[in-house]
Amino acid sequence: MQKTLGAALLLLSCTFGFTQQAKQIIIDTRNLALVFSIQPNKKVTQSYLGNKLMSGDYSKISGGGEIYPAAGMEYQFEPAIRMLHADQNPSLELQYVSSSGSRQENNVATTNIVLEDPVYGTEVILHYTSYYNEDVIKAWTEIINREKKAVELTEYASSFLHFNADEYWLTQFHGDWAREMQMVEEKLTNGIKNLESKLGTRTNFYQTLAFFLSLNRPSTETEGEVLAGTLAWTGNFKYTFEIDQRNTLNLRSGINSFASEYFLQPREVFTTPEFIFTFSDHGKGQASRNLHRWARKYGVLNGSEGRMTLLNNWESTGMKFNETRLVELFDEAKNLGVDLFLLDDGWFGNKYPRNDDKAGLGDWIEDSTKLPSGIGYLVKEAEARGIKFGIWLEPEMVNPKSQLYEQHPDWILKLPNRPENYGRNQLVLDLCNPKVEDFVFNTVDRLLTENPGLAFIKWDCNRSMTNQYSPYLKERQTHLFVDYTRAWYKVLQRIRSKYPKLPIMLCSGGGGRTDYGALKYFTEFWPSDNTDALERVYIQWGYSYFFPANTISSHVTDMGKQSLKFRTDVAMMDKLGYDIRVQNLSPGELEFSKEAVKTYKKVSNVIWFGDLYRIESPYESDRAVVMYVNENKSRAILFNYHLNTRRQDIFNRVKLQGLDPAKKYRFEEINLFPGTRSIQPDNDKLLSGDYLMKIGLNLSPGRTNPLTSNIYELTEEGARF
Ligand code: DGJ
Repeated sequence: MQKTLGAALLLLSCTFGFTQQAKQIIIDTRNLALVFSIQPNKKVTQSYLGNKLMSGDYSKISGGGEIYPAAGMEYQFEPAIRMLHADQNPSLELQYVSSSGSRQENNVATTNIVLEDPVYGTEVILHYTSYYNEDVIKAWTEIINREKKAVELTEYASSFLHFNADEYWLTQFHGDWAREMQMVEEKLTNGIKNLESKLGTRTNFYQTLAFFLSLNRPSTETEGEVLAGTLAWTGNFKYTFEIDQRNTLNLRSGINSFASEYFLQPREVFTTPEFIFTFSDHGKGQASRNLHRWARKYGVLNGSEGRMTLLNNWESTGMKFNETRLVELFDEAKNLGVDLFLLDDGWFGNKYPRNDDKAGLGDWIEDSTKLPSGIGYLVKEAEARGIKFGIWLEPEMVNPKSQLYEQHPDWILKLPNRPENYGRNQLVLDLCNPKVEDFVFNTVDRLLTENPGLAFIKWDCNRSMTNQYSPYLKERQTHLFVDYTRAWYKVLQRIRSKYPKLPIMLCSGGGGRTDYGALKYFTEFWPSDNTDALERVYIQWGYSYFFPANTISSHVTDMGKQSLKFRTDVAMMDKLGYDIRVQNLSPGELEFSKEAVKTYKKVSNVIWFGDLYRIESPYESDRAVVMYVNENKSRAILFNYHLNTRRQDIFNRVKLQGLDPAKKYRFEEINLFPGTRSIQPDNDKLLSGDYLMKIGLNLSPGRTNPLTSNIYELTEEGARF
């Protein structure tokens, strides 16, 4: 390893990513530095995390907390790692052995730090991948058993970070079905605050695994020091924020070790999921933009590519449809001008037809009553109309009323000696069993090979785990939570090696799975079954902190009773889709919707790939304002939503952000309802970026009726799009 360090030093000195100066290891990006010091006792400590020093001279800072504190000896707080050796000894001492760096591409470098226990040989390798332009760092750990017998891991963090500030403010996002991403910010006090999930599948049902940690004071959109963090793991997670007696905050992130003691065989490597973080000294807005840029390039499948607009049938038909009705809906999709029709739940099951959520799950064969000509026919009928066809699946689950359940009762997670426990009348399959893994893969593979035109999948997961017991794991039940998620990733890897580009929407009864562990394999996610446009302003606002707009599926539906214009404007803020009966639209509404789809297609590149500026928060006002600005600042799209406004509300001018002060922009209201015209006083004017950002716009002229909205386009003078 020492040799690797020498080579890496030659390669990387004076560059970013990994540098070693005397007894320090410096991991940096364009604006950030994470500095570790190797202490005389061979402990490695974190001496600094924050904005990079222009001089690059960190030699005067040398102390700090251990980078991966182990339980069992002197350390008395929540540890990064705890284990029982083969002889049941619970101690661990991690000493520095070596460090090395490697470059994956110009913008990406990884630092590896090897630590070892002098008595038992336990090896821990800490990895930090830094993304220079995006100011994002990804940290994960490998733990290797060097003993002759199995050892037991009872704590195994992905990463451990220390902070020194006067105050710490945590912003978390909790929720429930149809109430995702409720934002709460609180001051942390001495002791421990955990954010966690123990739900197994549908893991983000109650708690999203992304957070902000603001230092010294709550950060705003534009000001303050803030860390944004999230974990690439679609399973139980836990973040522990512990403020010690010296007011240092220790942040442990990783898999939740609850009921998950993990036994490592000799030479076996336990690899943790990645903790992804960025740090901004310009508030949450910059942190989000860093994550969005990183996600599009590195975090999400096909993240820098376009997405399809679609018509889904879940809210308009539920499970009551047949072939004829679907073909009618294809005509509606075509008329609307979207790219794809997405057939939702209810298309399968013969012995136990899927007419409600009580039966059929697991039997992935077309219902011959509803769809006598099969999926292939539907694909062709859709294609004949110039649209693509996609389908809903929930392949990890089973209804007791299914042939799958009858044939493979041992493929299901359930306690052998207790009654079954249902969620939405269903049980979770035992993915730890390789036969189940094959079944799930084959379900998807068969559908795709038998129906080559199938162009989209919505992958659902409608329950969390209860009565967790794997018939396959036998005496290793504590591996269940971890192995389930790993097996799910294995299935997804198999699917992706055969179908690398196919768009797949991640869904879990709404936003029960929203993480970058899954998004490596998915192109977008379903944020919530709550599609009421007013609620969606808040839900989409919440997700926008951590995910780029092209991943956040937003459909126009009939759930909220707002005007079609408001519902459409809200859905256009992210990835536009529809779930309505187009046939029920009035002629004016249809004309509006068809134009809206066209407009969206013209401006979606700015929304999907531009930089997001959240200008006015719905949490602080009766209005929400967001804008996207493209990379060269020649074009921007501005969304303005009046929420439950009151007569007495006073709305100030809105100062835009992210524009080029020296450029002049044509400011124009778009997506107007037929027969209406803009009442915006500055509509169609040429305004400088400087003016727009310093003086701003009156976005609420006249009476601001509740639940009204506007979309504006700003185009650089002379530019053509
Ligand atoms: C839950 C999803 O969130 C919905 O969009 C829909 O697909 C249903 N499941 C179907 O059962």
